[in-house]
Amino acid sequence: CGIVGYIGKRDVAPLLLEGLQRLEYRGYDSAGVVVSSPKSGGLKMVKAKGRVRDLEARVPKRFTGTTGIAHTRWATHGAPSDENAHPHMDADGKVAIVHNGIIDNASDLRAKLTAEGVEFLSETDTEVLTHLIARNDADTLEEKVRQSLKQIEGTYGVAVMHADFNDRIVVARNGSPVVLGIGEKEMFVASDVAALVSHTRQVVTLDDGEMATIKADDFRTYTTSGTRTTAEPTTVEWEAESYDMGGHDTYMHKEISEQPDAVDRVLRGRIDDRFSTVHLGGLNLDAREARTIRRIKILGCGTSYHAGLIGAGLIESLARIPADAEPASEFRYRNPVVDPDTLYIAVSQSGETYDVLAAVQELKRKGARVLGVVNVVGSAIAREADGGVYVHAGPEVCVVSTKCFTNTVVAFALLALHLGRIRDLSVSDGKRIIEGLRKLPEQISEILETEGDIKKLAEQYAEAKSMMFIGRVRGYPVALEASLKLKEISYIHAEAYPASELKHGPLALIEPALPTVAIVPDDDLLEKNRAALEEIKARSGRILAVAHQEQEKADHTVLVPKNEPELDPILMGIPLQLLAYHTALSLGRDIDKPRNLAKSVTVE
Ligand code: G6P
Repeated sequence: CGIVGYIGKRDVAPLLLEGLQRLEYRGYDSAGVVVSSPKSGGLKMVKAKGRVRDLEARVPKRFTGTTGIAHTRWATHGAPSDENAHPHMDADGKVAIVHNGIIDNASDLRAKLTAEGVEFLSETDTEVLTHLIARNDADTLEEKVRQSLKQIEGTYGVAVMHADFNDRIVVARNGSPVVLGIGEKEMFVASDVAALVSHTRQVVTLDDGEMATIKADDFRTYTTSGTRTTAEPTTVEWEAESYDMGGHDTYMHKEISEQPDAVDRVLRGRIDDRFSTVHLGGLNLDAREARTIRRIKILGCGTSYHAGLIGAGLIESLARIPADAEPASEFRYRNPVVDPDTLYIAVSQSGETYDVLAAVQELKRKGARVLGVVNVVGSAIAREADGGVYVHAGPEVCVVSTKCFTNTVVAFALLALHLGRIRDLSVSDGKRIIEGLRKLPEQISEILETEGDIKKLAEQYAEAKSMMFIGRVRGYPVALEASLKLKEISYIHAEAYPASELKHGPLALIEPALPTVAIVPDDDLLEKNRAALEEIKARSGRILAVAHQEQEKADHTVLVPKNEPELDPILMGIPLQLLAYHTALSLGRDIDKPRNLAKSVTVE
């Protein structure tokens, strides 16, 4: 979900709608806006099921005001509908709130309030907070919000307006991001800097347990127990333009195309040719500590988990430290054994995925050392971790991750090289990997030039009801990610299997109507992979191979340039991003905003 708010002198509705457009990637099943003007004081609200453009169509001509809050929703409690859209107001129209997160004790509070005669207008958990604030009799809005928040359990990023205190917006954070944007005689608030950067790059990020009051010419931050906190604005490094589509039809296409530059950025300033290693300034792990690590456990969700799987392979092969990756959501619920010799690494594009953040917090509580591999600078996971590597992919807006995935894997290659060179990776192997890394941007560009061919192939495979993706060892996580990408944006069912496991079950599915995409690098497993292609061909299965050389058994081969074997998975993933993209495009899907998904899942 996304929150945006403004207080100043400008006409607020168009400003908030623009902010919502920029946040729409965080949720897009309903949206709403509340405004107030200093003269009339009253709150006016419009909400609509659907996209921000549906909301825009409903906003009346005379919807003026200079203070307002708005929201775009990804449903958790209550189906998408006009009523369940945020903001939520009390029956007297005094209080309006927008909320990200989940109130765990909402049903108890709802029962209590209902017994007291409160009439609920929606099925959301958020509405209880509206009524708590409206019914609180403290003298200030800050105190009303503070006391009400004390009664709720759960997570929130929340912004509150009150008709009787219309010179301010009060916000609070616990587990869901809140950022203040500091302007000239105007202030902004949002759940994501994406909504702010076209107006100001001076921001203050709230910590969990922090609140803030913003007025047109002033802001102050304090804890939920009322103690003032210091908040020095920092400057956002990402430019406003990097949030635009830049001549592409979709963000996904833009982000795929940006990969040569993005990879260049993650490498920049980090390579040390003298010692054939890399410098990772924020790692916070000296050589002596690095030598004591006996295991590495990588945690992430979705695409970041897949990047972690490739990362684990890189660490094992370059640093010879046993490493594996697990979905953070699973890890945190199985009461994991937290071992002092294990280094934990949390992977997240946004740095705010709740399952990952909660795993990090649990690990830290148990005294573990946790590093972050994160894209968004200063995000919750980055701040919570003991150190880490920023992946510098730039803002990623399309719900499904492409350039950030690639950059995360490259960041893992850097980390693996760094650890390897502290342990027993030779200078010449270090050099070999560095040379390979340097070749990546150019080789990615070469792959992107074949887009036309991949598009034609995608059109041929788009009629499939289901697809199989296979790979071995390093190729297997590539298959997993390619299959996820296809499902997410084309809605074609897809499965990924290690090629070696085909004969233990999935071979039963193979028939002409179920095409297989096979990852076939020219490495020591080439013959084994070829054998799998034979098995499929013998059952009349269609095969699309992604390979370094033409594959005889395949119906089509997409050729990718060869790098070092450890780095090949990075390149083999790129044509498959384009395959998913063009498949979805030919099926007429809404690529940047696939159904039922959201970019950042900040709830459990
Ligand atoms: C959501 C997105 C996925 C993403 C995952 C993890 O589910 O739809 O595309 O991979 O979250 O996000 P993160 O920001 O932690 O990398």
